[in-house]
Amino acid sequence: MFNGEATSRKTAEDLDANDPLAKFKDQFVIKDPQVCYLDGNSLGRLPKPTVKAINDLLDEWGTELVDGWSHWIDEAQPTGDLIGRAALGAAAGQVLAVDTTSVNFFQLCSAAIMARPNRNKIIIDSSNFPTDRYILEGIARDRNLELITLDNDGAGGPGAQPIHNKKELITAEALEPFLSEDVALVTLQAIHYRSGSRPNIKAITDLCRKYGILVVWDCSHAIGAIELNLDAQGVDLAIGCTYKYGNTGPGGTAWLYVNKSIQKELRVPIQGWFAQKDQFAMGPFFEPADDIRRFQIASPSIMGMRAIQASFGMIEEATIKAIEHKANVGTELMIALFDAWLAPLGFELLTPRNPKERGGHITIGHPEAKLIATAMRILKKVVPDYRTPDSIRLAIAPLPTSFVEVYDGFLRLKELVETKQYLEIEDNGSRVT
Ligand SMILES: Cc1ncc(COP(=O)(O)O)c(C=O)c1O
Repeated sequence: MFNGEATSRKTAEDLDANDPLAKFKDQFVIKDPQVCYLDGNSLGRLPKPTVKAINDLLDEWGTELVDGWSHWIDEAQPTGDLIGRAALGAAAGQVLAVDTTSVNFFQLCSAAIMARPNRNKIIIDSSNFPTDRYILEGIARDRNLELITLDNDGAGGPGAQPIHNKKELITAEALEPFLSEDVALVTLQAIHYRSGSRPNIKAITDLCRKYGILVVWDCSHAIGAIELNLDAQGVDLAIGCTYKYGNTGPGGTAWLYVNKSIQKELRVPIQGWFAQKDQFAMGPFFEPADDIRRFQIASPSIMGMRAIQASFGMIEEATIKAIEHKANVGTELMIALFDAWLAPLGFELLTPRNPKERGGHITIGHPEAKLIATAMRILKKVVPDYRTPDSIRLAIAPLPTSFVEVYDGFLRLKELVETKQYLEIEDNGSRVT
């Protein structure tokens, strides 16, 4: 795409000049303009509309007190609809803004398994995000199921089975030998958290459906970076966070998606009072609501709702199509700069080169990745994100990140490693990487 011109800063400047999303950067709080923030796939920047929305809510709470619940009570549903419309390609009535990704994962995986009572196998991959693997291990133990971990990164895990893959990417063909009518559930990521690989959601969902298997897609690293088109791809179940490319803030409320066609078949294990059909009758027995509310446990965090409304309103305005296009061009620029500057310094590209097989971040490997990632922050004001054992993730969050920010970040990384300046830094000892 860049014909050798990626290493000229003018290329990035021209991309910014022609970027229809460039105007959104001004809508984010940027305290230090020198910082190249390439970690929007971990925690997004703070949108200015969120500051107003949260301040307005504080006023609303102070004024309305408990009476506010008359209209706060159902906010998880329209907020979910907004997430669905803006970022998931989901028609109304199928998304709820609730809880955390981990809780939603537990709820929907358990619901899928309970809907297939005569099956005793469940499948995940070893490169999946730890919370998903650990929760599934617990579900398998408690429900006496056989957990198969498709070993696509050499890390193993419960019931590990090697699977053919490239850069963690699992294809429908590679998955099929593990499928049978004994399998209740398969769960995979829409974008892999470490490698950034992007599987074919439709091909895998269709294949699993042939065996009557339900798939739960973890879309945490995909939402707000790519078009997910959940309805059109025939997805049954999906979950994800909102605080990465969704920019809702640390611990922002997560979401779950249940396709309308299977809502009534499913029951979740934590049957809280918000799922009760006639919630305020406060009756003695549980009877689930017929709609998406049957998947809600408890009172929505109204601060969480307002943060989502502010930032997903921006995504809706920008359009997810334009966002995916920018993520595509941005990651292409990163790969061109990687080839020109970083490969000669001993870095390895861990993300697929095919733009259809990646999202908004790329991952590069280096034996001294941990030290380099720390030095990037301290010495060069470039914020990446390190993942054990040897990878650095670099993202373009399409609304707040400019192409020049990407370019400058890569140039500073090149200089840091070329001069071996990173050796001056000591491991910062933080528990968080
Ligand atoms: C792919 C994926 N799934 C799940 C989680 C866990 O999210 P939470 O801690 O919000 O439950 C994360 C967090 O980064 C993630 O990246």
